[in-house]
Amino acid sequence: MIYSRIAGTGSQLPDKVVSNHDLEQIMDTSDQWIRERTGICERRIAADTETSATLAEEACRKAIETADVDPAEIDLFVVGTTTPDLVFPSVACLVQKKLGLPDCGAMDVNAACSGFIYALSVADKYIRCGDARKVLVCGTETLSRITNWKKRDTAVLFGDGAGAVVLEASEQPGILSTHVHANGDYKDLLTTKVGVSRGWDGMAESDGIPELFMKGNEVFKVAVRTLGRIVQETLSANKLEKSDLDWLIPHQANLRIIAAMARMLDMNMDHVVVTVDRHGNTSAASVPLALDEAVRDGRIKRGDMLMLEAFGGGFTWGSALIRY
Ligand code: ACO
Repeated sequence: MIYSRIAGTGSQLPDKVVSNHDLEQIMDTSDQWIRERTGICERRIAADTETSATLAEEACRKAIETADVDPAEIDLFVVGTTTPDLVFPSVACLVQKKLGLPDCGAMDVNAACSGFIYALSVADKYIRCGDARKVLVCGTETLSRITNWKKRDTAVLFGDGAGAVVLEASEQPGILSTHVHANGDYKDLLTTKVGVSRGWDGMAESDGIPELFMKGNEVFKVAVRTLGRIVQETLSANKLEKSDLDWLIPHQANLRIIAAMARMLDMNMDHVVVTVDRHGNTSAASVPLALDEAVRDGRIKRGDMLMLEAFGGGFTWGSALIRY
């Protein structure tokens, strides 16, 4: 039986820090409201020269370095992103040759905030079926480019960044299981109202950018319910108990959602990796960014049991259970 395991992790954040106090200067909001409702204190915002592809490139470079693999041996490159540099070529194609990858398959997966989990799931399946031995997986986003900086209900929530892992074939798991779901009936709760094929008629309403719209309160309720179900599904699929988990690495949208998940899993917050306070919601980048941070600072150790979960536009949601 072939499994996949994480051989190395990497991440990249823009240098520019935007604090809640900075936002107080440009919109009708307060540090107190943002902290109490979301747990966010600051976020990183991409410079004009930075894009989803440049952030991905750096995160991937670090993951390849930590994994100590030759980029020429990578068999597949999968990127989760909802803010690609271009319609095409994909971010994966824009970055592939800069990293020294061979002419391997390279593709983007769009599952909004669940993009990294979806990408990880694809990569894991390629390795399990024997079609690949080493796969580079990345989540990268510049949500600041689809954020309306005049609107307090969304502008305070998002940030930019990228995270990556190298997966390699292993006789031992590794990734025990991945689970992905979607329900397009919720498409209007979290969406951009303009797009390539639909057209740009709504652009005036979108203030000249493909703006992100969210009915936050309704998204919040579905997110908590749905994530509760998927972590249970994941444990049941592996015949494991909540007490078998060492770390929860959740999507970083809102500290209240993260805390609700920790309560459902009977986990102390000391065993939950939290970056939302410093990164905001970086969509598909949030889970691999959190994973890389906790691996590098030594909290997550080889052998630990990790639950990764994410929820986002679509709606999409997903999870991965990993013996690190
Ligand atoms: N500053 C001050 N007041 C604000 C702000 C702000 N930045 N934003 C909204 N308010 C006000 C509202 O106008 C409202 O005022 P009212 O009561 O006078 O009408 C009040 O605060 C409460 O607004 P709610 O939207 O009900 O606030 P809520 O407690 O739900 O928090 C939030 C909003 C943070 C967006 C929360 O609902 C949330 O986190 N939702 C889930 C987000 C999520 O998980 N998204 C999925 C992933 S994202 C992706 O896929 C791209």
